[in-house]
Amino acid sequence: MWFRADNWKEKSMNIAKAVQEHMLEESKKCKNDYRDAYVEHFVPVVKYAKQLAKEVGADQEVVEIAAWLHDIGSIHGYKDVHHEYGRDYAQKYLSGVGYPQDKIDMVKHAIYAHRGSKSIERETKEAECVADADAFSHIYNVVSLFRLAFKDKQLETDDAREFVRSKLERSHKKLSTHARGIIDEYYSAAMIILREED
Ligand SMILES: [Fe+2]
Repeated sequence: MWFRADNWKEKSMNIAKAVQEHMLEESKKCKNDYRDAYVEHFVPVVKYAKQLAKEVGADQEVVEIAAWLHDIGSIHGYKDVHHEYGRDYAQKYLSGVGYPQDKIDMVKHAIYAHRGSKSIERETKEAECVADADAFSHIYNVVSLFRLAFKDKQLETDDAREFVRSKLERSHKKLSTHARGIIDEYYSAAMIILREED
């Protein structure tokens, strides 16, 4: 079997907690650019996603699970198709632990639609929360993006600045109206800092 079916019911654990533990285990095995993503990206995405879910009245459990799993494809080395890989992984993993199919479908859509570069329509509040939180993580953690650019991608200063700026622009573009209102001031400040020198 290519995934570990933790029996969260037997352990009487919260399902979201079980998924978190699963992601921690998978992250420890990761050898690519996402090796530090558990702390640098997944933890903040889950935090923002839960806040947004409360604000917009989305299903908080579905949002939390999708937020933990949304980049499992990148962890496993399938970055180019990670939205599809993650959707299919969620089906196998969550049905393996006995999670209800109607909720699995909500998780799957949120994972599939989180990818900004693919213009996939977000049909649910839960999908919007995950995509918004993913973008928030990049915009609020500019320093982490520079760490990725300098340390993992070994970029020089100008290329690193360009990498970070285009990542922020793409993140900002996929925000919902609600999320844009929350982060616009911070985004504008970051973009001033990232302007090229004359
Ligand atoms: Fe992400």
